[in-house]
Amino acid sequence: MGDPALRVAAAPASGLDAAALDGIVVDLLDTMAAMDGAGLAAPQIGIPYRVVAFGLKNNPRYPEAEPLPLTVLIDPAVEALETETEEGWEGCLSVPGMRGLVTRWRRIRYAGGTPGGERVIREAAGFHARVVQHECDHLDGVLYPDRIENRRMFGFIGELQAAGLLGGPALPEE
Ligand code: NI
Repeated sequence: MGDPALRVAAAPASGLDAAALDGIVVDLLDTMAAMDGAGLAAPQIGIPYRVVAFGLKNNPRYPEAEPLPLTVLIDPAVEALETETEEGWEGCLSVPGMRGLVTRWRRIRYAGGTPGGERVIREAAGFHARVVQHECDHLDGVLYPDRIENRRMFGFIGELQAAGLLGGPALPEE
């Protein structure tokens, strides 16, 4: 956070050639795995294209989180399925050491291309929906602190824990 590259809209990736796209996908998945992250967007690793990855399976860092299918999305789109929102704690590999309570749509539909050239359309709720919204925000230069409504619910992990404020497993990246 502070790098201007995280604050601009990323470019559509559908026009990239297959080799370039494959390279982006490998970098995204490798980095996400190395960081034990639940999600990652290409601009976070210096790639200015609209590609995100997410997935979570038996990660000891999120023992209570619901499983999230390992997914790479090219030029994703998200829409709310209802007006209801909910709050959850988020972290971000681009904002290390911190957490914030963020309001997100509770139920969404999202769509995007896959590296294999297919199209994914899914409905999601809760943690799954939160991760997708967090990652797609990165493609528009939006970071989760921008969406925190109560600034007192934003801080360093140790301080939030010491204050008894931080709880729950819903942490999209860290
Ligand atoms: Ni993030």
